[in-house]
Amino acid sequence: MLKNEERVGIVSRLGSNGEGIIKDGDYTVFLPYALPNEKIKYKVLKVKKNVVFAKALEVYTPAEERVRPACSVYEKCGGCQLQHLKYKLQLKLKSKIVKDCFSKIAFIDASVPLTERSELEYGYRNKLQLPVRAENFGCEIGFFASGSHRIVPINSCPIQPEWCTRIIKAVKKYVKTNDISVYSDKQGAGLLKHVVVRAVDGKLLITFVINGDTLPCVNQLIAILKEYFNDFSLFVNVNKLGNNVILGERFICLFGKDKVMTTDCGIKYEMGPESFMQVNDNVRRRIYSEAVKISGVDENTVVIDAYSGAGMLTAIFAQKAKKAVGIEIVKEAVDCADALKKLNSLDGKMQNVCAPCEEALPEIMQRETENGENTVLVLDPPRQGVDETLIQSIIKCKPQKIVYISCSPQTLARDVGLLTDTLTWQNGELVKNESPSPTYKLVSVKPYDMFPQTKHVETLVVLRTKSSNDRSALSPAPGIGNLK
Ligand SMILES: C[S@@+](CC[C@H](N)C(=O)[O-])C[C@H]1O[C@@H](n2cnc3c(N)ncnc32)[C@H](O)[C@@H]1O
Repeated sequence: MLKNEERVGIVSRLGSNGEGIIKDGDYTVFLPYALPNEKIKYKVLKVKKNVVFAKALEVYTPAEERVRPACSVYEKCGGCQLQHLKYKLQLKLKSKIVKDCFSKIAFIDASVPLTERSELEYGYRNKLQLPVRAENFGCEIGFFASGSHRIVPINSCPIQPEWCTRIIKAVKKYVKTNDISVYSDKQGAGLLKHVVVRAVDGKLLITFVINGDTLPCVNQLIAILKEYFNDFSLFVNVNKLGNNVILGERFICLFGKDKVMTTDCGIKYEMGPESFMQVNDNVRRRIYSEAVKISGVDENTVVIDAYSGAGMLTAIFAQKAKKAVGIEIVKEAVDCADALKKLNSLDGKMQNVCAPCEEALPEIMQRETENGENTVLVLDPPRQGVDETLIQSIIKCKPQKIVYISCSPQTLARDVGLLTDTLTWQNGELVKNESPSPTYKLVSVKPYDMFPQTKHVETLVVLRTKSSNDRSALSPAPGIGNLK
């Protein structure tokens, strides 16, 4: 196949990024925004051995599962990958992606239920990050096209709540009426770079990120924002670096309160403009509640919450358990966790450790398990998953239960494969273990739709030491025997 060639094919299935896959002789064609059984005319964009990346030109026979995307710049923006697929089928696809990862990466035939739906299919995000750039036609506000710094201008975004439309209007009005200078990537100059918004209990924390020290015409900006919003705080954030990091360190509150006090899952907390919180409130709450319920934590249990972020889950566990210890590498997040501890009177029950898990977790696990404590280990790592040496420490210390929350089914499957011994190292490569002797068994796998309309999926997994009596969700994979 040659670059720029136009061909016609029938999509056979969906890939792990939600793209359609066409088999054409020896070639596997990846075709974003295409659905199974659709006959499609496509253009070849790139050929790498027998893998082809292509672009759909015309859908001759649209699938029954196809729906009209809610977004007018859907295929240009690239932020969403599944808006053209009926929501119920998005949920099915995500379950299949998780199941396939377990079977292909870890040789585990896991039982994976239908992905838990999000209460809101659209308008679910509590956080917005809008780049503002000086482009050919003046100030443009939108999202960066995938893998670039080219703005796709928008007036609204369907996965954001309605307030996103008003924010864009207000920013445009402020820039235009006050002749505000806007950042240009080419020149590395210009003042306004990003507008970042967090919604907490109906109140907006609005931050203008600037390449300078002061934001001009603040009173005019406040007056414009008041036209559009009843309840907001305004911040300026200084970021003079020309890299990809959006926020600088310094926030200055220009209007309203600098923190919002709120309550979630029985825990009081203060949210600031920079506080970390998962983007879908409803799904986040359900994952946290399920994590607590399924871990069976009571006043005799010690919980170790590895990769604990701002400590929300640590605090929720601390309320139920004998104690909960959070481990987190980012100092600011640990400071938030300490504030949570104080605010919720969890002094003797919650401990927040600022350290890399690779350093702190083995010692903490050893101490608690040697004390004979009933121990639950919570793992909520970033996309790269858990460090291999840490997995070995976990297997050595054997906390009774592991609750693993993951945003990457690939690294989740790998780590579960190592914990359940279906995977082993051979010549520097992870391969199927032909004679597993597992310390842990898989109890349950449950995907959640934290990010509707996108390919992303959050998964909650429970593992137990093999000596326990829990019913296992693991069915034997062909050829690897029964690991129950
Ligand atoms: C997916 S977030 C989980 C946050 C938290 N559990 C929650 O529900 O909000 C992963 C966290 O791990 C932290 N992190 C990343 N690498 C780490 C490491 N090596 N040791 C400890 N924490 C780490 C990140 O700073 C981030 O806060």
